[in-house]
Amino acid sequence: MRLISFFIMLLMICSCNRAKKPEEVKDNSVPARAELSKDSKIFLGNRLFSEKTCITCHAVDQKKIGPSVVEIMTVYKGKSGDIVSFLKGKSEPIVDTTASQVAIMQANIEGFLRDISDVELDAIETYMLHVDKLNAN
Ligand code: HEC
Repeated sequence: MRLISFFIMLLMICSCNRAKKPEEVKDNSVPARAELSKDSKIFLGNRLFSEKTCITCHAVDQKKIGPSVVEIMTVYKGKSGDIVSFLKGKSEPIVDTTASQVAIMQANIEGFLRDISDVELDAIETYMLHVDKLNAN
C-alpha cells in the first residue's frame, strides 16, 4: 500500500515536471526542485535501470555485454570517478577502455540518456551505489 502511494507520488512529480514548459519559468524564479529521499532515488533509479535498458548489459555482479554494476562501482570508488558526469558524456570511460566496448556504451549515452534529467541521473547513480553496497564483499 505504501509502495502504491509512493508510486502515485512519483508519477505526479514526473508529470508536473513534464507539464512545465520553458516559457512558464520566469526570469529569476528558481524552479521547484523535487528533492527526493534516498529511498525514492533508489526506487526511481531501479526503474530507470530497466526502462533505459541498462539492465540488459549490466548485471549486478556478473559481466554481461558490459561490466557488472559491482565492477563499475569498484573502479569509480577507487578512482573517485563521477558516474553522472560520464552518463552526461562529459567525462571519459575509466572501467573498460577497449574502443569497441566504449562505442557500445557511448551509443546509449547518445540514445537512451539523451533527454534524461539531472534528478534521474542522480537516482541512477544512487541506485548503482546501493546495489554495490548490498553485493560487494
Ligand atoms: C548495449 C549494452 C549496454 C547498455 C544498454 C548499457 N551499457 Fe553501460 N556499458 C556497456 C559497455 C560495453 C561498457 C564498457 C565500456 C565503458 O566502460 O565505457 C559500459 C560501461 C558503463 C559504465 C562505466 C563507464 C566507464 O567509466 O568506463 C557505466 C557507468 C555504465 N555503463 C552505465 C550504464 C547505464 C546507467 C546504462 C543505462 C542507461 C547503461 N550503462 C546501458 C554496455 C551497455
